[in-house]
Amino acid sequence: MSNQSENVLVARNVSKTFVDGANKIEVLKRVDIEIAKAEMVAIIGASGSGKSTLLHVLGGLDQPDEGEVIIKGKDIHKASVRQQGEIRNKYLGFVYQFHHLLAEFTALENVAMPLLIGGIPQNDAYEKAEAMIGKVGLAQRLTHRPAKLSGGERQRIAIARAMVTNPACILADEPTGNLDMGTAQAINELMFELNQSEETSFLVVSHDLRLAQSMQKTYEMTDGELSLASTK
Ligand SMILES: Nc1ncnc2c1ncn2[C@@H]1O[C@H](COP(=O)(O)OP(=O)(O)OP(=O)(O)O)[C@@H](O)[C@H]1O
Ligand SMILES: [Mg+2]
Repeated sequence: MSNQSENVLVARNVSKTFVDGANKIEVLKRVDIEIAKAEMVAIIGASGSGKSTLLHVLGGLDQPDEGEVIIKGKDIHKASVRQQGEIRNKYLGFVYQFHHLLAEFTALENVAMPLLIGGIPQNDAYEKAEAMIGKVGLAQRLTHRPAKLSGGERQRIAIARAMVTNPACILADEPTGNLDMGTAQAINELMFELNQSEETSFLVVSHDLRLAQSMQKTYEMTDGELSLASTK
């Protein structure tokens, strides 16, 4: 079904080993994954199995030892640092396991940042950012700095920042891990809404089996090996 041109992200034979003194930890073992346009994909797996490492490698934030990662037809690990930045800004949204917001900027500025970096005029960028913050339910927190937000609010601002550019693919590392059930549910619905309206693909690391089951594909990571656990 998924021909190469419809895939927004393809990784082939990705391996990565961390060396720590005499210790070698093979964190990713010949991982293959494909994400088609508008596809919702989950990754489940135990703590320490390599899920965050894989997301970082897929997003070009960390280098694999072997293998390739193709985003919209471009090999991100063969691109220059500047091109990598462009590919990320144009095609990807990233929700880190821990929010990674910029402390000295307000919620609104944090969310507007990827738009401003992408060359969107300031007024448009702030308007879009404000609308997206409204969608994650934080319209009353625009001028708060991260330190003055709760943990869950920071996570929601981080999600707004990933979504605001309408990227082809959002890589989300336990985006609702720190949220109460009601808020988590609202964020899950927002992901599906964006998927429907914008044909955004999502790759979501989650311990929420119900969420995983509602997605088209679920992969399981076991000690660095990724296998397809279910498809619909
Ligand atoms: N920079 C690093 N140097 C050495 N080892 C690392 C490094 N980063 C991660 N690891 C190790 O790689 C393994 C996988 O880590 P990773 O963060 O990818 O796991 P995870 O599946 O995301 O776990 P969790 O569910 O707890 O978030 C772990 O054993 C971790 O200790
Ligand atoms: Mg992790």
